[in-house]
Amino acid sequence: QAKRNLTMGFDTGHQIPVQAGLEIESGGSSLDAVEKGINVTENDKENTSVGIGGLPNSEGIVQLDACIMHGPGHKAGSVMGIEKIRNPISVARKVMEHTPHVQLVGKGAQEFAISQGFKEEDLLTEKSKLKWLEWKKNNQKKKPEGTIDNHDTIALLILDENGDLTGGCSTSGLAFKLPGRVGDSPIIGGGLYVDNEIGAAGATGIGENVLRHCCSFMIVEFM
Ligand code: GLY
Repeated sequence: QAKRNLTMGFDTGHQIPVQAGLEIESGGSSLDAVEKGINVTENDKENTSVGIGGLPNSEGIVQLDACIMHGPGHKAGSVMGIEKIRNPISVARKVMEHTPHVQLVGKGAQEFAISQGFKEEDLLTEKSKLKWLEWKKNNQKKKPEGTIDNHDTIALLILDENGDLTGGCSTSGLAFKLPGRVGDSPIIGGGLYVDNEIGAAGATGIGENVLRHCCSFMIVEFM
């Protein structure tokens, strides 16, 4: 029943979170499905571009970005450059549901997460640390460049059986980025946009390019 009534879009590497989203019971909301689906990838330590295990910035610190948008009520929540919290999509949902704001950044986002019961932990895995040390040794003087090897994101869009759309996006961003760099993924209209009447779009790829053209917003408007 749930399978018949949910449709979704996803980046090719992310069939597992879509399955997790589908396991939300029939009648469950697209909001729960998006959060739970993205949590799967955020919790996967082998994935080096989302959540725990994400590649760090040039200083070796993992800074995560995420946003969520729920069609009914045109609601949105976002966190940018959050550290030590493995599930930024869930924090973004809390921002949407428990604050009058849309976006929280850096330390403020981290403190808000802790106040909501999230646990702090070291997100830099041995695998990611080794990649960072290798980058430091070989490329320290080079500017970080977005390529398929150092960079990915999950964007998940779900339409539930009530006809409601939710989208979410989560990433550790460009590997070895300048500290404080924020890409498209936590930007409403950049890495994600949902209009319950029309459709939804989510982006993966080099955030700087997506941001310059407000891509997700533009796609939904063209729909
Ligand atoms: N699309 C993810 C990023 O550039 O940060």
